[in-house]
Amino acid sequence: MIDLTLNNGVTLPTLGLGVFQSAPEETAQAVAEALRIGYRHIDTAAAYRNEREVGEGLRRSGVDRDEVFLETKVWVSDFGYDQTLHAFEKAAGKLGVDTLDLLILHQPAPTRFETTIAAYRALESLLADGRVRAIGVSNFMPHHLERLLAETDVVPAVNQVELHPYFTQRAVQEADAAHGILTQAWSPIGGITFYPGWGDGKRSVLEDPTIAEIADAHGKTPAQVMLRWGIQQGRSVIPKSTNPARIAENFDVFDFELTGEHLARIDALDTGVRGGPDPDQPRDAFFDVVIDEA
Ligand code: A2P
Repeated sequence: MIDLTLNNGVTLPTLGLGVFQSAPEETAQAVAEALRIGYRHIDTAAAYRNEREVGEGLRRSGVDRDEVFLETKVWVSDFGYDQTLHAFEKAAGKLGVDTLDLLILHQPAPTRFETTIAAYRALESLLADGRVRAIGVSNFMPHHLERLLAETDVVPAVNQVELHPYFTQRAVQEADAAHGILTQAWSPIGGITFYPGWGDGKRSVLEDPTIAEIADAHGKTPAQVMLRWGIQQGRSVIPKSTNPARIAENFDVFDFELTGEHLARIDALDTGVRGGPDPDQPRDAFFDVVIDEA
């Protein structure tokens, strides 16, 4: 496992288990299994409604809490200074921990940016109080970052965005790098290009012929090649799986190296088309979601 050092000196295991769309009853099992085989980083979110089961998986695994990097996200309906302080209590309570390793804003609220700023101010105060070890954002485009940086004090440690070979977000990656923000890839093997209800009618990046050819050349799978591409380019990657064989497969990516030519060929697959929601067009319903108390 490779560790990445965040801009505040905290280290984060580059590869983590994602649990977006992991059903609650499968999540505890997936988390315990991932920890058993060596994962030490789990990414969840209040809006995934499985923080409780992530905590249960952690306890079930027997792995010491301090050995695991726990990351979660504040949903937009909990934005605002006091609301976000309370969102931390809800998340920590459900996870069953006192502190979080990384707490990030799930996405900007472009039409209510002042609440986004207030929420981030709350993250800054949680950081100062030692309740969280690092803070950051998710789904921020460069113009959201510029505004946040102009109006707040702590540079985010992480910006977690949709990032896979069909949507490489070069401008976001450049803006993150310019400010010392780690780019973390959600859907790093392009699940968003084939998830039922999300990927319908889209081309699945898992079936891409270029990636298949590179995978064959290394005796690896397409998913492993995509994860390796992200890791070699310095990103954190958080593939989601609830299947034990695929959880293990996604972790087995530290024994091979892609060539510069392979990396460039994967970069060239970018379509410029996102699979997930446009961060500038949040749906009104997002703000009506009620995140349960712990
Ligand atoms: P499953 O949980 O049944 O394994 P992403 O993290 O890029 O969004 O991808 C997640 C999706 O990819 C999920 O549908 C997951 O399903 C599937 N998946 C995870 N790992 C692999 C793998 N190694 N090969 C193929 N599909 C995978």
